[in-house]
Amino acid sequence: MDPCAEDRQSPSKRLEGKVALITGSARGIGGATAKLFAKNGAYVVIADILDELGSKLADSIGGRYIHCDVSKEEDVESAVEFALAWKGKLDIMFNNAGVSGPGGSISSLNMEDVRALLSINLFGIIHGIKHASRAMIAGKNGGSIICSSSSAAIMGGLASHAYTASKNAILGLAKTTACELGVYGIRVNCISPHGVASEMLLSAYRTCLGRDDLQAEDVTKIVGERGSLLRGRGGSMEDVAKAALFLASDESGFITAHNLVIDGGYTSACSHMSPIYTSKV
Ligand SMILES: NC(=O)c1ccc[n+]([C@@H]2O[C@H](COP(=O)([O-])OP(=O)(O)OC[C@H]3O[C@@H](n4cnc5c(N)ncnc54)[C@H](O)[C@@H]3O)[C@@H](O)[C@H]2O)c1
Repeated sequence: MDPCAEDRQSPSKRLEGKVALITGSARGIGGATAKLFAKNGAYVVIADILDELGSKLADSIGGRYIHCDVSKEEDVESAVEFALAWKGKLDIMFNNAGVSGPGGSISSLNMEDVRALLSINLFGIIHGIKHASRAMIAGKNGGSIICSSSSAAIMGGLASHAYTASKNAILGLAKTTACELGVYGIRVNCISPHGVASEMLLSAYRTCLGRDDLQAEDVTKIVGERGSLLRGRGGSMEDVAKAALFLASDESGFITAHNLVIDGGYTSACSHMSPIYTSKV
């Protein structure tokens, strides 16, 4: 039984019949995107290390689940092969898996922790682009590769040094790979979310503010008040999923090497001087 069979047949679906592989999609932004992609007619492979959550979500959207630790190249290669074995092609690769931390001063960084983070946040994405592009080049039908960067790649002071370094490197990598892969009709873009109250962000806020009682709604409220030009409006997982849907679909067919920032304008303007716009002088 395929719960999304009807969705896939409707001509208005933006990803009708496309095959998508999303890493880190058992929950959070990846999970919300998996649901939205399936709703829009895609066949979705969920690749994660959270097997129970991932399998459950895959079943609920008529997708498939595969255990995949993105820091291991062979796991990512297997996930791409799994998608090819299932539907014979790969149209969309969303390299979304990522972790936060380690916090602390640059002068006392534990380099093992830094390497561990880079192995997921940066090498995981390199593995994803490498194996997805192989499949897409062989498929001769182009493709859309999306990579999760972050507002922290644009503006300092939003995350740890190692995390920021990983997310900034992704921006460069997306540009070089877009340059190489454009001749095959393969687009490579980034999305940079900001302040979305996922498990990752919630746990970071709890640690930073020393408040274990903090809930997702509290974080969204704080972001809406202090981290968004759209005062009072924080970001949601669905906001990011919709941006990913746009980049995955043919509607963004002439967009490549782009970084789509989903931050309520936060990283584009300093609002400390906003009285300028209300004073008469
Ligand atoms: N939440 C935000 O505000 C925000 C902001 C900027 C960027 N991001 C990025 O968005 C992406 C999704 O994060 P999220 O906020 O939904 O957090 P999340 O913790 O809810 O989701 C991360 C997912 O990645 C998976 N994952 C972790 N390590 C993995 C590995 N080695 N292999 C495969 N999967 C692994 C987790 O199991 C989880 O399902 C991350 O890359 C994150 O850096 C998030």
